[in-house]
This record gives sequence, structure tokens and C-alpha cells, in this order.
Amino acid sequence: MRVCVIGAGYVGLATAVMFGKLGHEVVCADVDERRVRAVNSGKSPFYEPPLEKELSRLVKKGMLKASKDVLGSARESAFIFICVQTPSLSSGRIDIRALKAASRSVAKVLRKSEDYKVVVVKSTVVPSTTDTVVREVLEVGSKKTAGRDFGLCMNPEFLQEGSALKDSMEPTRIVIGAIDKRCGNALMKLYSPISSDKIRTDLRTAEMIKYASNVFLATKISYANEMANICYRLGIDSDVVLNAAGKDPRIGPLFLKPGLGFGGSCLPKDVKALRQKARSMQYPGRLLNAVLAVNDEQPFEASFILKEVLGTLERRRIAVLGLSFKGNVDDVRETRAIPLIAGLLASGAEVVAYDPMAASNFIELMPTIMYASSAKEALDGADACIIQADWPEFKRLGRKEFSRMRNPVVVDGRRFLVPAEVEKAGARYYGIGYKPANEP
Ligand code: NAD
Ligand code: UGA
Repeated sequence: MRVCVIGAGYVGLATAVMFGKLGHEVVCADVDERRVRAVNSGKSPFYEPPLEKELSRLVKKGMLKASKDVLGSARESAFIFICVQTPSLSSGRIDIRALKAASRSVAKVLRKSEDYKVVVVKSTVVPSTTDTVVREVLEVGSKKTAGRDFGLCMNPEFLQEGSALKDSMEPTRIVIGAIDKRCGNALMKLYSPISSDKIRTDLRTAEMIKYASNVFLATKISYANEMANICYRLGIDSDVVLNAAGKDPRIGPLFLKPGLGFGGSCLPKDVKALRQKARSMQYPGRLLNAVLAVNDEQPFEASFILKEVLGTLERRRIAVLGLSFKGNVDDVRETRAIPLIAGLLASGAEVVAYDPMAASNFIELMPTIMYASSAKEALDGADACIIQADWPEFKRLGRKEFSRMRNPVVVDGRRFLVPAEVEKAGARYYGIGYKPANEP
């Protein structure tokens, strides 16, 4: 089978490689020349090593290629997956310009096509978008009817960056929303080699499942952060509390790590988009408001801790380690490093930032702060350091590195270091939800 994937981002490339590995011939169409060139030379345009390894293998075998020719790529394919970005507008609504543009290209192909094709929306879109906006663009542009002349499905993606390919190959579930049985059956068949549970729904339900999932994850994180902030003020270690709470299967252990808030291209955007949708129906979305309110404040918890420890941030040199929205990725979309650093600067601090992979992306967002080329260099002469992203290399920081600080204080903004090990290496350890025992 020939599969076309529109959009060579995290979702598009993971989908393309997944179908390539299942034995299909895949073409990934993207308007971004640099991404197309990267893919055709077997390179991932973003840091995702396991995906890149398989991508490179499939490109060499001739099973996967990228192209700027969206129409030509879609023309030859039985399935067309739309995986373009749907970022937040300032109102919280999603920006569907790329989705519409991709749909217009597909419509042109459908117009001239004699075969039955299945169009699958994989981008995250608010309920009704596929059945209204996408359907209308496809029908008007092709002069054909969805359901009768072509299939239309909504197949949300649940992968996490950092494990994109594994999550695509072994998804927790596959949701197949379809306009009718024919295209739903066709998509079921395409996914049949993957044994995960398959849930069949209509288009709007599939869209809503994606939001219900991401909102729950975001809610869990804001809950963990709220508990941790209270624990800190009580001098209780929140990890002990949350690990014990998570033993209850009704609560569950995952996504209970407190930190500086959830970033990334999806959790913040999706909670905002659902809130906006709810508001448009005069429903206030109180929980969504609270989840976002906790998240907006959370980066400042690190400054709160540091002000307690240092007295003031005025002219204090603070090393910020980790600029991506989480460790092991170079994605800086909605990274909490932005409000964190802005808050530190507003309090009069001097910031030296370091990230193993994401610095070049981050410099575009904050060009005027100082950047170090290693964690060790960032720690030089610092009055404190804040771990903003859980990069494995920060676990290896020890006496040699901490001794370079003017004042060896570590604020673990992701709660992934072991307090006793940091203390053993000669630094004072504080964390979100953790205050050393003998502190007031
Ligand atoms: P991305 O920004 O990394 O990639 C999107 C790609 O689409 C870009 O390369 C862009 O050039 C291309 N594109 C835009 N318009 C196009 C057009 N008209 N024709 C061809 N190509 C076009 O996006 P992403 O992170 O992969 O996310 C894609 C969608 O999937 C979003 O809706 C997102 O919410 C959702 N999603 C993302 C993730 C994730 O982890 N990143 C996980 C699940 C769902
Ligand atoms: C998230 C979801 O986990 C995916 O299931 C979903 O498909 C994806 O969004 C999407 O729709 O795009 P991702 O953006 O890769 O995946 O990031 P996560 O691993 O969920 O982390 C998001 C943020 O939450 C990060 O800033 C991370 O540091 C933070 N986080 C995560 C916590 O603060 N505590 C936790 O326990 C877990």
C-alpha cells in the first residue's frame, strides 16, 4: 500500500516510519524544504535518535521518502494522513491555517482522482473540526462527497516526544473515528498488524478523546504541583506523599512528578483550546482554568525558593540547566524555561543558561541572556542553579562541578536528582516540594 503523510514533524515522521516498518511505501510531504532535505538524507529534523535510526534505514531501502510536492505525493496514495501543526492563537483557539492549506491540496488531488482514497486527520483539532472545516474544504475543492467518493477519518495521536517511534509502534490505544464504515474498516485494516486496542467512533468523539486525554495528563501535573507547593511550605517531601498517593490504582503513579509546570507543543495548547471551545458554548470550564492557573504560576516556585534561600535575587548569578520543555528533546515550544528566566531577570538576577541539545533553538526565543557551552561552565561562579529539564547528564553533576559555584545551591525543578547525592557532592539541595530537613 502507498501511504502519504502530510507534515514531517514529530507526528508525521513517526507515522511515516511506523507505516514504513509495517511494509508500506511511504511518502512524507512537507512545505518546509529543510525538513524534506533532512528526511531524504536519512536525518530527523529534530532530536529523536531511535526515530532517526529507523528513518535512515527506510530511506536507504527506498521505502520512505520526503517531497515538497504535496499534490504529487497524495495523488499516488490510498491513504493520506494530515499531520500538520495546529498551534495556539493568543485567544487559545487553534490556528487551523496549515490544516486548511493541507486540506486544500488534498481536495485538488481528490478532484482528479478516479480511485477511492481515505483522508485521515491526525493533527489535534477541537471537536467538529474534521466534520465541518476539513470536510467542507475537501468537498468544495474536489466537487465530491465525503463518504460516497472518498473516506474521511480522524485518528488522534498519543505519542510523547522522546519516545515517538516506540509510542507509534506500540500505542496504548488506536482511536479510529470515521465518517462511515467503509473508511473506518479500511483504516482498521491498515492498522491491523498493531495489536493495541482499537476504538471505533465517529469523527467528533475521536477528536474529543484526544482532548480528554491531554487534559487529564495536564490536570494530574497541576495537582502534583499544587500538592508539592503545599508540602514545601510544610517541610514535607512531596515525592514521598505523591508516590504513596499514586499506589492507589484509582490515582496511579505516572504523571505525578512535580516541577516547573507542563510545557511542550501540546498540553498547554490543548487545555487552552478546549477551554476556548467550552467558553464558546457558554460553559466556563472551571477545572481547565484552574489547571492552567497552577501551571502559569509554577515556574515562579523556583524563584520563591531561591528568594527564601538567598534573601534576594538582585545581582545573583543563576545557572539555568535545561532549556527544552523536558529532557531528551530539543523542542522549546512552550518551554517553562521562558517564564522561569523572565521571572529571574525581572527579580534582578543574572542568568547563565545551558542545554545539551536545545540551546540553538532557545537562543531564537531569548537572544540576550548568557549561554554556556557546558553545565560545568554555567555553574562557574553561580549563586545557585535551577534544573529546568531532566536531561540525564545533569544526574552526573558532582563535587567537581558544584565546587565551581560561588554558592552551591541546587533547585531541582524536575525532582529527578537524589537529594542525598547532591548533598554528598557538596551542594545544598532544594526541590519543588522539597526543603532540607533543618530549614525553618
Ligand atoms: P510540527 O510543527 O513538528 O510539524 C508539522 C509539519 O507540517 C511542519 O514540518 C510543517 O512544515 C508541515 N506543514 C504545515 N503546513 C503544511 C502543508 N500545507 N503541507 C505540507 N506540510 C505542511 O508538528 P507536530 O509536533 O508533529 O504536531 C502535529 C499535530 O499533531 C499537531 O496538531 C499536534 O497538536 C499533534 N500532536 C503532536 C504531538 C507531539 O508530540 N508533537 C503528539 C500528538 C499530537
Ligand atoms: C504529551 C502527552 O504526554 C502525549 O501523550 C501527547 O500525545 C502529546 O503531549 C501531544 O498531544 O502532543 P509531550 O508533549 O511529548 O507529550 O510531553 P510530556 O512527556 O507529556 O511532558 C509534558 C510536560 O509535562 C513537560 O514539560 C514535562 O516536564 C511535564 N511533566 C510531565 C511534569 O511536570 N510532570 C510529570 O509527571 C510529567
